[in-house]
Amino acid sequence: MRIASLLVLAACGTELPPPPDVSGYPELPSDPQRAGDPAKGYDYLVNGGYITCGIPRSAYDQVVGPADPGISGRTGANASLPYDFSAAMSKEGVPVVSANCLTCHAGSINGQLVVGLGAADRNFTSDQMASYVDAAGSIITDPTEKAEWQRFDDRIHAIAPYTKTLTIGVNSADSLTAALMAHRDPATLAWLDQPRLDAPMIVAPVDVPPWWRMQKKHVMFYTAAGRGDHARIEMAASLLCTDSVDEARAIDAAFVDVRAWIETLQAPKWPFAIDQALAARGKPVFEKTCSRCHGTYGDSPTYPNLLIPVDVVATDPLLATGTAEFSPDFVQWFAQSFWGETSHLDPQPGYVAPPLDGIWATAPFFHNGSVPTLEGVLDSSKRPTYWVRTSYDSTDFDPVAVGWNFTAITHGQAMEPTQTARVKIYDTTLDGYHNTGHPFGDALSSDDRRAVIEYLKSL
Ligand code: HEC
Ligand code: HEC
Repeated sequence: MRIASLLVLAACGTELPPPPDVSGYPELPSDPQRAGDPAKGYDYLVNGGYITCGIPRSAYDQVVGPADPGISGRTGANASLPYDFSAAMSKEGVPVVSANCLTCHAGSINGQLVVGLGAADRNFTSDQMASYVDAAGSIITDPTEKAEWQRFDDRIHAIAPYTKTLTIGVNSADSLTAALMAHRDPATLAWLDQPRLDAPMIVAPVDVPPWWRMQKKHVMFYTAAGRGDHARIEMAASLLCTDSVDEARAIDAAFVDVRAWIETLQAPKWPFAIDQALAARGKPVFEKTCSRCHGTYGDSPTYPNLLIPVDVVATDPLLATGTAEFSPDFVQWFAQSFWGETSHLDPQPGYVAPPLDGIWATAPFFHNGSVPTLEGVLDSSKRPTYWVRTSYDSTDFDPVAVGWNFTAITHGQAMEPTQTARVKIYDTTLDGYHNTGHPFGDALSSDDRRAVIEYLKSL
């Protein structure tokens, strides 16, 4: 209804269409959070042993060897590990190495690694991780280390079938979490070799959101599912290894500080020149057309914390139908578990209109990463049906359309014979991968659209 009236107005002339009426959508509620120490939080994030299973360190060192972490503040056993791996001590006293939050929550833009930016180049299309862990196993001889490796290898193989995406860059964390919940008793958190729930096979592809949004957002996740205590929800990545409530409680205590650090994060600044006159022209257009949903920016910013129903925003509906960890059995598991003490999942049939701070750095766009540039977000006729990133180098960036350089191709994944080439194609005809909706920029003139893009660079 609202979209239809927008389009009718667009056809009538150059007057700006009225912004969609959002008065019917209530502000998402803000829940109290525990206070923490941000400096301690960063230290725990990059040095803490919150993933307590993994590849024994001795085998890791033989297979991979030392590396420059690429981020500041790494100490002790972490000083020679890349930023996306952390050292920990297993319950049996074996030093282990495992992937950490930054595997998904650190990304590069214009050649700079930014902690908190979603990684837009990770490959979840194959069982790479499982074969990597298998390879490490073949060189372990010590029986205690072998047992520790086996524990990790079993878990990686249990979840591998549920976490495959169809294209490089999108993330399967929501399905990964569901697969881990399926393999745990909610009351004791004990690992179950046989899953007690059917882990969903449909993987909703998700573009990892940047952490700096949490300063403004009342709720976590695209579908507003993350409610209550955020620190508790954030430590859910420990589900891979944490086998008891006592162990979980100790990690939770440190995550109070991690959450506090995440909420201090600022978006990175646009690194190139901005046409200030053009951006100044874009500001009132943005405020008239976009602010009701996305807020205002500058000295006294506002952010309305709105959830827009999926039939209104009309982007891909799969995630908003409540898939993976957001389907009813898993929402219930969460409520009955250690997590349910202070937090809960309440997924909605819609998407949060996100704060747009640092939006320039976060391509591709929408919750499923289906649109490679801001130009495409604002003009749906410019969205490619099938596209391939020109490279995964973060300097291969288009500062005019604002997003990744891409090649639009004429066929989808089904027509591509090799798996290697297939997974490079973002095919928007696949379920979960559609690039429809969000028509709110379509009615603008091309001059106004250019001005809004220039303004967005300044946020
Ligand atoms: C395997 C990839 C992966 C790992 C590892 C991971 N995350 Fe995430 N994270 C995601 C994805 C994907 C989302 C968005 C999910 C959604 O909204 O449906 C997300 C969402 C979040 C959000 C909410 C952001 C928002 O705007 O709502 C926070 C905060 C967060 N993660 C923190 C963490 C922390 C802290 C860790 C480590 C303990 C971690 N994540 C580990 C992939 C990951
Ligand atoms: C009726 C509310 C509404 C209006 C008006 C609106 N948006 Fe959005 N916008 C949304 C929602 C909801 C999303 C999330 C959609 C999704 O992820 O599937 C979104 C997503 C976006 C994104 C992508 C964010 C990301 O994480 O990739 C950008 C950029 C954006 N909007 C810019 C704009 C601009 C610029 C305007 C004005 C021309 C505008 N929006 C108008 C609701 C709105």
